[in-house]
Amino acid sequence: MKKLNIIMTGGTSGFGAVTSKELMTTLGTKMILGNRKSQIQGAMHIPLNLESLDNVRLFAAEVVKYIKSEKIHILICNAGMNHPDINSRTVDGFESTFAVNHLAHFYLLKLLMPYLDTNARIIMTTSGTHNPDENALSAPPVHANAIWLAHPEKDTTLDVKMTINAQRAYAASKLCTILTIRQLANSKEAKQNNWQCIAYDPGPTPGTGLLQKGTIFMRIAWQVFTIPFLRKRILPKSNSIKDAGLSLASLALGKVKVPEGKVYVALRAGKLTFPAPSKLAQDNSLMVALWEQSEQLLQDAKFT
Ligand SMILES: NC(=O)c1ccc[n+]([C@@H]2O[C@H](COP(=O)([O-])OP(=O)(O)OC[C@H]3O[C@@H](n4cnc5c(N)ncnc54)[C@H](OP(=O)(O)O)[C@@H]3O)[C@@H](O)[C@H]2O)c1
Repeated sequence: MKKLNIIMTGGTSGFGAVTSKELMTTLGTKMILGNRKSQIQGAMHIPLNLESLDNVRLFAAEVVKYIKSEKIHILICNAGMNHPDINSRTVDGFESTFAVNHLAHFYLLKLLMPYLDTNARIIMTTSGTHNPDENALSAPPVHANAIWLAHPEKDTTLDVKMTINAQRAYAASKLCTILTIRQLANSKEAKQNNWQCIAYDPGPTPGTGLLQKGTIFMRIAWQVFTIPFLRKRILPKSNSIKDAGLSLASLALGKVKVPEGKVYVALRAGKLTFPAPSKLAQDNSLMVALWEQSEQLLQDAKFT
């Protein structure tokens, strides 16, 4: 029986760990996880730190070596982080939240595209914070300019409050995820090979490590909201870690029928829905510009 090769980032903790475990219990799958320190029993682990583009390059090279002449059937880019400010820079000199959530995954996608099988499924995790209409508890993005996001000192739209800038940076990185998936879905490679491209929004999912760099108040609230009664009452659209992880696994295995032409899938109160993403996420000129600017950033950093 042919094995499904699954490559996943962010599958070692948070709801991604539920996803990777679920995928591994599915007959005929081979799970390859990019990892820093944590491991999931039974998976093949290849070191990956998305804060370094060179590390992304090495990870992709190891993946290709490991699968030999086989192809990748499912690629899940789920890793993500949320910095409390926009002062942190990666070794490549890019703002960390943008670099990890968007640019590193964009690079990984470009490196692995030649190895994706016909009918491959590519899923990247986004967030409802990208959409002002969601009224999330954080500031929505004001643009998807990759140059400004990578180098906030050039951004002329910065707020006077650092917390607002940090929230915008996270939300913008997730806006970039949807624009990237849309552009990928429009590409000739995706069309020729019948790739299914999905931007998965797990909805608010308390209890994960996402807010570990937040204030003590945020961290406590994030844990308190794992109590199902409180979570459902205070965050009615939210999800349990189990639901967020299992929904991602179902999408990865193609068990969910995504309506024709849709790429944005949002989990709300335990149900997968297919709403339109934000206006900025639907903007085709932004979509094309983001891809080009992201390529430019990689080129400037000598990663092509
Ligand atoms: N929780 C929510 O409410 C929510 C809502 C919308 C979207 N999301 C998105 O969902 C995804 C999963 O988040 P989560 O809530 O499950 O958070 P989490 O518990 O913090 O998990 C994040 C995952 O990303 C990995 N990761 C982070 N930085 C990395 C780096 N530099 N290099 C390699 N891997 C890295 C982590 O690896 P380690 O195991 O090594 O730490 C972990 O597996 C993220 O993309 C997040 O933005 C979450």
